[in-house]
Amino acid sequence: MQNPHRARLIAVLISSLVIQQATAQTAPDAVRGQQRYLEVCGRCHEPDPRTDRPRQAIGVPGGVRTATEVISPMRFLQTVLDARDIDDIQAWLDSLSPIHIRDTRALSGAWYDPASSGQGFSFSVLAGDGFAFVFHGHRNEGSNLTLVGSTVHRPRYGETFRLSALAVEGGRFGAFDPAQIRRPLWGTLELRFLDCGRAEARLEGRDGAQQLQLQALTPIEGLRCD
Ligand code: HEC
Repeated sequence: MQNPHRARLIAVLISSLVIQQATAQTAPDAVRGQQRYLEVCGRCHEPDPRTDRPRQAIGVPGGVRTATEVISPMRFLQTVLDARDIDDIQAWLDSLSPIHIRDTRALSGAWYDPASSGQGFSFSVLAGDGFAFVFHGHRNEGSNLTLVGSTVHRPRYGETFRLSALAVEGGRFGAFDPAQIRRPLWGTLELRFLDCGRAEARLEGRDGAQQLQLQALTPIEGLRCD
């Protein structure tokens, strides 16, 4: 009974070697991906994808390919780039690490998406790497929606971080009673700063989901991120 086992073991070893070699030949090349990105994508996007729209493809399997399919000004790339280019560019994007922000306090203030003016966020960068937000928005039936959340996190450009969003409900203007206030879990806020004045936000919870391209509305005098 020894020999058939050994033969099987050797067969398995050989086949895994063959598979390893095959993968080594086709493994994406991030260095080449960066070159192709600068040549092709750099015509329309920032050289550092973390500070521009290509950021949305980082860490998203098939993200680069999808962008060339759904963004109409990018569709011509389907004839410019082959599968290897796309894999290499994706590998380079996925290898990038987030960028340090020198003074995150400058992110504090009001932020909104000009395409949906009339709702928006207040961000507060707190002592001890605290980060808090308030969202001022609206429910589908027209009442106001206030969401709050906080976490311990120092934001970096190009990095997505996630906070729980609590709805603030139950209060009255007259005869205000703090005991009436409830803060049920509403959903989540995903946030990613692209630079000191631009961020992407995704709110998802009980009232639905929104994807927002935020701009800083009230930069604070004397504070600069970088
Ligand atoms: C001809 C100009 C052009 C080139 C070249 C180009 N893009 Fe874009 N890209 C755009 C435009 C325009 C948008 C959409 C911007 C908007 O909607 O605000 C976009 C958006 C994107 C997005 C966001 C997709 C989304 O879901 O919103 C990604 C990711 C992206 N590009 C990646 C790339 C990559 C990677 C390359 C190179 C392979 C590339 N782009 C080359 C013009 C270009």
